[in-house]
Amino acid sequence: MTDTLTKLAYQTFQQGKSYFGFTHKTLSARLAKLIAPPREVKTQPISPELLQKGQQRLDELLETDWQDAENGVYPASLLFDHPWEDFFRYYPLVWLDLPKIWDRVSRKQYQEFSPDIDTEGYPSYYVQNFHHQTDGYLSDESASLYDLQVELLFNGGADPMRRRILAPLKRGLSDAFADVPPRQIRVLDVATGTGRTLRQIRGALPKASLYGMDLSPAYLRKANQLLSELPGELPQLCQANAENLPYQDNYFHGVTCVFTFHELPPEVRQRVMEECYRVLQPGGTFVICDSIQVFDLPEFEPFMENFSAMFHEPYHRHYITDDLVARLENAGFAEIATENHFMSKYWVARKP
Ligand SMILES: C[S@@+](CC[C@H](N)C(=O)[O-])C[C@H]1O[C@@H](n2cnc3c(N)ncnc32)[C@H](O)[C@@H]1O
Repeated sequence: MTDTLTKLAYQTFQQGKSYFGFTHKTLSARLAKLIAPPREVKTQPISPELLQKGQQRLDELLETDWQDAENGVYPASLLFDHPWEDFFRYYPLVWLDLPKIWDRVSRKQYQEFSPDIDTEGYPSYYVQNFHHQTDGYLSDESASLYDLQVELLFNGGADPMRRRILAPLKRGLSDAFADVPPRQIRVLDVATGTGRTLRQIRGALPKASLYGMDLSPAYLRKANQLLSELPGELPQLCQANAENLPYQDNYFHGVTCVFTFHELPPEVRQRVMEECYRVLQPGGTFVICDSIQVFDLPEFEPFMENFSAMFHEPYHRHYITDDLVARLENAGFAEIATENHFMSKYWVARKP
């Protein structure tokens, strides 16, 4: 009875997020048509059948999310983890930010930053207004809007997609390190952004030592704030480039990386994988979650093409046909498996 009620509550919660995201996108597109300066974007039409299939994949994702909670991969409370305070505080700013985005898009400006932002020292591929983000990843305002924008984009599916890394990560850890006390297990989330993935990992691994790194000081400040809300949490965050991880060899039992590889140039993807391999212990598990790719879901190519065309994602078009299994093998990984859920793909690999 309790389970039935909890499942119903979860479905209602997700349905609310889904309607909200859909309505937000419909209204903002209408407003853009009315008042935004003209922009030239060639997009592919999405048929009602394809939209229906997208909805079906979202429903399947939510069912898997529920099942993983039922099976004890993480507590059901994690399904309801939502930054409500940030939602009420920053949702109006999402709308206020739109005119700035429209203006930059109409002027074809994709590397424009506020004058007070210091872009010195970052790799050039990084100094971009990814998905037209005002100030890219380099301001506190951007960090405050990011989680909200991602949830709106995926109609409430972002955290359920992040949570799909948890079952393979836990399985990998228990297969290889069953004799290591839970407190001595170390997991690193590479390019952790605002720390949403670390919050999910904490739900699944309540005792492990969790580490996060990212290139953006602003996003790490936000991660520090959000993770510190968790009772007893001491966020171990570090600002660095994932091409050169500031950790010793063979240190972590697990490494994760979510929604980042599509934002890296091909040769950087390879270097980051090599670094993840270096810092993992033999037997350690590496789990990647990123966008879907063409060879798994060819019928979803219009969604992928539109994502490349409508959002500023300079490396996404290459990414959707990049063979990450081959890259993982080149880095030294073995036992590589892949999965797909909704709009994301997963690679699970082991360091021999
Ligand atoms: C799309 S966000 C994903 C953030 C987070 N993993 C999530 O699940 O939302 C990409 C993140 O990668 C970080 N990033 C990009 N290139 C990086 C690099 N070379 N080294 C470290 N972080 C990087 C950005 O600062 C940003 O926080």
